[in-house]
Amino acid sequence: MRAKRIQVAYFSPTGGTERAARMLAELFGLPVEMHDRTLPEGRKQVITCEPGDVCIIACPVYAGGIPDVPGLFENIQGDGTPCVLLATYGNRHYDNALAKLKERMGTVGFLTIGAMAAVIPHVFSDQLGAGRPNDEDRSHMADFAMEILQKVNNWDVECPVIPGDASAPAKRMAYLPKTLDRERCTGCGTCARECPAGAIDAKTQTIDEVKCINCLRCVKKGCGAWSCDYSAITARLEAHYSAPRLLEVFL
Ligand SMILES: Cc1cc2nc3c(=O)[nH]c(=O)nc-3n(C[C@H](O)[C@H](O)[C@H](O)COP(=O)(O)O)c2cc1C
Repeated sequence: MRAKRIQVAYFSPTGGTERAARMLAELFGLPVEMHDRTLPEGRKQVITCEPGDVCIIACPVYAGGIPDVPGLFENIQGDGTPCVLLATYGNRHYDNALAKLKERMGTVGFLTIGAMAAVIPHVFSDQLGAGRPNDEDRSHMADFAMEILQKVNNWDVECPVIPGDASAPAKRMAYLPKTLDRERCTGCGTCARECPAGAIDAKTQTIDEVKCINCLRCVKKGCGAWSCDYSAITARLEAHYSAPRLLEVFL
């Protein structure tokens, strides 16, 4: 079989995962199709695969696992399709995220033939992961892409050993209070439409604390009316996880 196309399905509330996934995909030197699964509408789109497709499945690590949003990678159907997992994370650790992703993609017909854990900017810190993926990461990604192409073209679908425990109980960060500046809010409803978890009520501009995944898209990508004080988390993360971690690959 020859690889003909790279299909990328990604979840990326603040854009770091999207950038890393696009960088990796383009290094294969094949046509690339990007499928954004960040918003509920995007996750309803059905992705079907054809012979010659290689899929990259990319999402940020949340609390050592994968984001808890309905239908994250469900409407994607593989048929023994080779896939590459990309867990992006903010320089703390990826823990069980790749193992959980591998298990999830197996249930929808994909064969994991490679995986990568790549550092991207941490949404709770301007320091952790700043500028990542950088040139050095890109060069490792290019080598990885060539090895994946070789595997596919040689019909080698052996699954590498992926670290982590797929059955570890899912953890979730406690809700971080968000504040709406009602002077700045024009009631345009963009924050509600753009919430990956469907947690913001467009009429009342209130947040459903159970649905909210603390992705901070409303704060970082919105109109500036929402804010959140996460300084205590930033200080703790920066005190313990400032040493830059290397990009890791599993082949
Ligand atoms: C709720 C939440 C939990 C996170 N947990 C982790 C973690 O366990 N390890 C880590 O290194 N980064 C963690 N991060 C950082 C993300 O993996 C990532 O850097 C950030 O959310 C940006 O991804 P995006 O730009 O694609 O949305 C977390 C981020 C959020 C919002």
